[in-house]
Amino acid sequence: MRHLISPLDFSVDETNQLLALAEDIASDPKKYSKVCRGKKLATLFYEPSTRTRLSFEAAMLNLGGSVLGFSSADSSSAAKGESVADTIRVISGYADIAAMRHPKEGAPYVASLHSTIPVINAGDGGHQHPTQTLTDLLTIHSLKGRLDHLTIGLCGDLKFGRTVHSLINALVRYPNIRFVMISPEELRIPTYIRKEVLDDHHIPYEEVESLEDAMPKLDILYMTRVQKERFFNEEDYIRLKDRYILDPAKMKYAREDMLVLHPLPRVNEISVEVDKDPRAAYFKQAQLGVYARMALIMTLLEVGLC
Ligand code: NCD
Repeated sequence: MRHLISPLDFSVDETNQLLALAEDIASDPKKYSKVCRGKKLATLFYEPSTRTRLSFEAAMLNLGGSVLGFSSADSSSAAKGESVADTIRVISGYADIAAMRHPKEGAPYVASLHSTIPVINAGDGGHQHPTQTLTDLLTIHSLKGRLDHLTIGLCGDLKFGRTVHSLINALVRYPNIRFVMISPEELRIPTYIRKEVLDDHHIPYEEVESLEDAMPKLDILYMTRVQKERFFNEEDYIRLKDRYILDPAKMKYAREDMLVLHPLPRVNEISVEVDKDPRAAYFKQAQLGVYARMALIMTLLEVGLC
């Protein structure tokens, strides 16, 4: 039995296979409408979510399965003090696969140790978000045709943004990847990622503060929200939250084929006027998240077309 806790739980070959399956699903979703008949997905969400939880649910329903779960810690027995270990032991008897989001780093990993069904990390604190990464890889591959030879700008909250951490981990395994990290000093990428991921893989990267200067170099611009809920004090959040706002004037610096991605939700960091720019790919990205999750559920449940 397999879990998905970190993007590295799948090898590059396995990741590519999963993306190929997701692309096939995207081309003809109806073909897969019964492959999970009789299977149940539990969504255990201890933190707010719109896209991740609903795209997981849509994914399982599209595959012919059913879903159960909770969408806040308050409405689960966590409010009574139940441990993640006990919860997953019980859920293992109710469902065939579980997706868990939790504010504490490592909670889905702990759950996987006590589970008899596959556990998917749907975001753990400021740590990892591997299913967003599958979505991001699928978007880049579908729209750019490749996952190698890319210069990726990561902009915003690189310290607390778990989507950025997982995306870096996944992309460094492809040839000729470089990063331009655009953030204020206080929100730079954590040292453990700089040392253990970027330096160990000899990945070229720059850390800069100016978005305008970085724009002309980029194949992909990955914007992120400043993660309000992970700040220790509100003053810092207020000072940093509007540091980067992508607007049509800044888009003028970008290449004609640059893609703008964002895991969403957006707050102010992309002005709504950018939405009509053909390079804005974030809503398409959210749609592709359903197909990425369909492919993931099929892979972990080991089901296919008969
Ligand atoms: C992201 C998350 O939860 O980390 N959202 C998502 O899953 N699409 C990004 C964010 O909340 O800023």
